[in-house]
Amino acid sequence: MGYFIEVTKPNLKLVPKYFKRRQTLSSSERFTTDYLKSLEEEITTLRERSNHLEYELFCNLRERVLEGLERVAKNSLVLAELDFLLGMSKVVEEKNWCEVEFTEGIDTLIEEGRNPIMEETIRDFVPNDTRFSEEERVLIITGPNMAGKSSYIRQVALIFLLAQMCGFAPARKVRLGVADALLTRIGSGDYLPLGISTFLNEMLDVSNVINNATKKSLVILDEIGRGTSTYDGISIAKAVLEYLGERVGCRVLCATHFLELTELGKKRGFKNYHMGVERDGGGVRFLYRLVEGVGRESFGIEVAKMAGIPQEVVKKAEEHLRRLREGNTIRVLEEAYQRSGEDEEIKEVLRELLSLQIERMTPLEALIYLAKLKEKVLGLKTKL
Ligand SMILES: Nc1ncnc2c1ncn2[C@@H]1O[C@H](COP(=O)(O)OP(=O)(O)O)[C@@H](O)[C@H]1O
Ligand SMILES: [Mg+2]
Repeated sequence: MGYFIEVTKPNLKLVPKYFKRRQTLSSSERFTTDYLKSLEEEITTLRERSNHLEYELFCNLRERVLEGLERVAKNSLVLAELDFLLGMSKVVEEKNWCEVEFTEGIDTLIEEGRNPIMEETIRDFVPNDTRFSEEERVLIITGPNMAGKSSYIRQVALIFLLAQMCGFAPARKVRLGVADALLTRIGSGDYLPLGISTFLNEMLDVSNVINNATKKSLVILDEIGRGTSTYDGISIAKAVLEYLGERVGCRVLCATHFLELTELGKKRGFKNYHMGVERDGGGVRFLYRLVEGVGRESFGIEVAKMAGIPQEVVKKAEEHLRRLREGNTIRVLEEAYQRSGEDEEIKEVLRELLSLQIERMTPLEALIYLAKLKEKVLGLKTKL
């Protein structure tokens, strides 16, 4: 809009004669003067000249870089390599990484491996071992939420990546069967703008893993099958693990909530691990240590408590959980009730069982009830 002198309405009477009116606004008026006008022209021309000059300088620089293109490109590469080597050697020295021994085949042993990112921020970071061999190629890692599953499988992937990049890794000792690819299914980023749902996205990743894995690859799967209904999820996850473990024969680390997947642990090449957890009063204590076998408890409600979810909601969740567990027993009883037909005596016993409020009984009451029930059933034995 250019330059103006703006005067508010109450002060208009003070405006000198040589001010020229340009614009009227609701509460003020804008003026210019001959001097202001010439100043404005000067500023505009200078700005144009300055832009022009800058472009000229830029073009000159461009010409000169073009003349020395080969040297500039070569020096950039040399500098980049030097930067990489210096950076790596500094980290290896300061963070106490070990030199890696490489082997052919898939046998791998990582002793006291560390997650190089997490050990920067966590004071009591717990190192863990990793072993791969023909007998232990697919490691199925269970354990509750927050137990350290994701951190651990990322750690192993990072150790492979860093070892193959620079020959050193964050661990006490590493003997590593070189991997020809690192294939992952981690996280749940949606491509909502493209209309790709979480689950489809997950399956696209899994498909990429399956189609590209060879015997020498390392595959990292974090909770696959979680984006769909439980049965779908378990079935897909199990089939994927079987394919990778038996047809491809590659090394796989799989973190999962699905205990059903640990049935695979019986097969050759599969092995179950879990992240150690201790009960600690009413809560849980995470040990962050990888141990053999299946982690059966999920501690979901304890973690909800730790996160500060209100007591009222936690209580309700515990109630729902108990009902879900009892649900199975009650369903069996109800089916028996349907099948018992017209027999009133059997129906009577079943009706009593169904109406029983176990959570309101003391252990002693329950025992007494159980004894009475047994007597009753013994009396009915011939009918049953
Ligand atoms: N090895 C470890 N040592 C110390 N703390 C850890 C370790 N691994 C994980 N943690 C802590 O536990 C948290 C949860 O870990 P995460 O791997 O996300 O668990 P999960 O995948 O089992 O839910 C991390 O954010 C970190 O604070
Ligand atoms: Mg996780």
